[in-house]
Amino acid sequence: MSNERTHDCGTLSGDHVGETVTLCGWVHTRRDHGGLIFVDLWDKYGVTQVVLNPQIDQLAHEHAQSIRGNFVIAVTGKVRARPDDMVNAKLKTGEIEVYVDELHILNSSETPPISPWEPQDTTEALRLKYRFLDLRGPTLQRNLKIRHDVMRVARNELHRNGFMEIETPVLTKSTPEGARDYLVPSRLNPQKFYALPQSPQLFKQILMVAGMDRYFQIVKCFRDEDLRFDRQPEFTQIDVEMSFGNEKLIFQIVEEMMARIYQEILDVKIDTPFPVIKYQDAIDRFGTDKPDMRFDMEIVDLGEIVRGTSFKVFAQVLESGGQVRALNIKNSADALSRKMLDDLTEITKTYGAKGMAWIKVQENELQSPIIKFFKQEMLDRMLKALGSQPGDTIVFVADTAKIVANALAHLRLALSKQLRRVDESKNAFTWVTDFPLVEYDEAEKKYTAMHHPFTAPREEDLERFASTPGSAKARAYDLVLNGNEIGGGSVRIHQKEMQEKMFQLLGISQKESAAKFGFLLDALKYGAPPHCGIALGLDRITMLLAGAESIRDVIAFPKTQKATCLMTEAPSELDPKQLRELRLKADLS
Ligand code: AMO
Ligand code: AMP
Repeated sequence: MSNERTHDCGTLSGDHVGETVTLCGWVHTRRDHGGLIFVDLWDKYGVTQVVLNPQIDQLAHEHAQSIRGNFVIAVTGKVRARPDDMVNAKLKTGEIEVYVDELHILNSSETPPISPWEPQDTTEALRLKYRFLDLRGPTLQRNLKIRHDVMRVARNELHRNGFMEIETPVLTKSTPEGARDYLVPSRLNPQKFYALPQSPQLFKQILMVAGMDRYFQIVKCFRDEDLRFDRQPEFTQIDVEMSFGNEKLIFQIVEEMMARIYQEILDVKIDTPFPVIKYQDAIDRFGTDKPDMRFDMEIVDLGEIVRGTSFKVFAQVLESGGQVRALNIKNSADALSRKMLDDLTEITKTYGAKGMAWIKVQENELQSPIIKFFKQEMLDRMLKALGSQPGDTIVFVADTAKIVANALAHLRLALSKQLRRVDESKNAFTWVTDFPLVEYDEAEKKYTAMHHPFTAPREEDLERFASTPGSAKARAYDLVLNGNEIGGGSVRIHQKEMQEKMFQLLGISQKESAAKFGFLLDALKYGAPPHCGIALGLDRITMLLAGAESIRDVIAFPKTQKATCLMTEAPSELDPKQLRELRLKADLS
């Protein structure tokens, strides 16, 4: 017999009854029914039931006694219709089974430490160590298929729009995207180091100077930063740059691409164009620059209304230039117990607030420990500003603007989850625009770029750029989906003088800018076209499409929170010989 398979394990149906077929795959389950042995044979396309009958082939049956889960086998046999009462409508191949004439064991398997096909209580660490087993399971199979489809659709869409995929170096020089670099020592140039790219930002801009017009790349980026559920040290961007473009064109291309991705992969229609919200409005209304727009509930500023209150906490905060802001939570007075309010208070404290005050709005009264500090007129105005009705609860945070925004943003998310106010079927895409160009870093006593130092200020802010840089806005944009930042980009600075001014503003000396970005400044001298671009986070987009909890679940070989790979045990120590070749010492501490 040949082991050449004729079909995969997800194909056979009633149409194949009577045919002789060869299937190859893994033993998913094996059930010994005395005389007959039933094996569910698995491959990535599906599961087919194969039956070993001692009446048909004694040898095959004896073989089958020895096979166990995860053995790799090849079977040849006849496709038969299952008896009516054995048809499994849930299985693609549920109408048939294969009666085996010949069985070959292609490889055995030890009892695996985790079973890919059964839900079980294992730690993520064990699953990451045995990633090859976990990847056999349905969740990761599905997630990686979605990831592949996102890349496929994105490539097709960008190609359709005239973008060309161009690779850029991985051994390169630092690109400032706000994280630490991963560094690679150069053997041929002792004491010199490459940086792995935090993004291809400068290369893609230089490709515009090179007249490439429309570039894209599905590309690995490397950032040594604190990791979270949506952050990996190496992650993938769908990276885009275009010449002679503007915000409108970029938005349109990305919107069409996202709509196509959702249509093809989930068969979901996405409405375009996406709504646009300015950065400051997002902060004022939702406390964050990545608002989850799947539910209402907006922050209301009560500073003016409560000014003059005898509640010391509020009075003192207002006196020192802080804010008093609140959320009105509709129909929640019954649902929110004292214990829940205490838990919510703890949440605000983890974001730096000193407390959270609340009022429950009842039919004829207001219930709250702080009512006595407010005049009736103040309370009336407060309820009006918040749109509060009987049955609602109001929660307040008073502090500096930054802490109030952060605490209320997280409170809003926690409340929406607890009270199930999120419509999970919604896909709320939002553009966030008009970011500040720079932020003042109090600790370092200098300005840092809010996006990156190559982002252009708005035309109308060129004057402010010189006089009050903190108030200048950037031509930068983020794409947000359901409260996740899934992309970011900007119109770039394309004139050398302006780029130099920007470096100056950021406290980068001429010497330093020449050393770090000389090649960019050089390129800007020789006919750089106006250009703009964006990078979309492939991992995050896939996570949201797959409904996964973490981007680790949509990456074949992800790293842990500590940036280690439990399967390969990277990073690892070097051989002293390798270190000598690199002229490095490993014992600096
Ligand atoms: P930015 O730094 O905003 O922009 O990155 C673009 C998008 O990449 C995703 N992302 C990440 N995903 C997983 N893990 C990470 N550590 C991580 N960091 C970022 C996010 C983010 O929106 N060069 C610019 C783009 C440009 O201006 O064109 C850049 O890299 O979804
Ligand atoms: P206290 O007078 O400290 O007992 O606080 C009375 C109420 O105000 C409690 O519910 C506190 O949680 C709340 N509270 C305290 N500090 C703040 C603050 N900065 N912002 C909002 N509420 C606060």
